Amino acid sequence: MKSTVIEHEKKLAAYESVSLVKNGMIVGLGSGSTAEHMIRKLGEEVGKGLSIKGVPSSEKTAQLAKDLGIDLIPLEKAGKLDINIDGADEFDPQFRLIKGGGGALLREKILAYNAKLNVIIADSGKKVDILGKFKLPLETIPFATPTILAQLIEMGLRPVLRKHDGKTYSTDENNCILDVDIFGVKDINSLNRTLIEMPGVVETGLFLKSTDLIIMGQGDETLFLR
Ligand code: 5RP
Repeated sequence: MKSTVIEHEKKLAAYESVSLVKNGMIVGLGSGSTAEHMIRKLGEEVGKGLSIKGVPSSEKTAQLAKDLGIDLIPLEKAGKLDINIDGADEFDPQFRLIKGGGGALLREKILAYNAKLNVIIADSGKKVDILGKFKLPLETIPFATPTILAQLIEMGLRPVLRKHDGKTYSTDENNCILDVDIFGVKDINSLNRTLIEMPGVVETGLFLKSTDLIIMGQGDETLFLR
């Protein structure tokens, strides 16, 4: 799909999600380019008088929201978020997601767990029948990362240590990311349990149960998937 079409679909989904945000709400702010469209639109609405508090899922999102005049509060002051709006790398018909392409999966999953309503915004290219064309990000602590890498190789998951500018990528929590190949894995739920039980794996990019609503841009349409 052309990148202009993808951007258009991302914007459609992102803008539509902002119409769900009402005065007084505490809003989880996702990360990535689709979430960025949503945050920019939210900033516009705040400029017109919408009063909300945001809880950011990454340092990058926090900076953008601050620049746009969106008030931020820490998660512990927020309690339950009224709504959490975030992007995804893939979603399947059971609303299971792969996230973490932008490296923010840990804080994103924490926000999703603490939200009353989880809304995913996506372009139509994110919809898949079977998860796994996109490599699954795993957040791992630096001490254990080489060992986990070796174990994942043995499991046939072809892990790749994520790099940025030639250096090991570091998350907002100073951890590493291993991108693993789960294509063809039949039982995703069981794989997720196996991965999360490995000491040193902090979190996986599989979001299996949290999503309430997916807003997807498709051409010039916006679809609400529930
Ligand atoms: C970041 C994420 C993003 O939501 C995901 O990578 C989608 O990004 P984009 O909206 O740029 O396609 O999980 O950790």
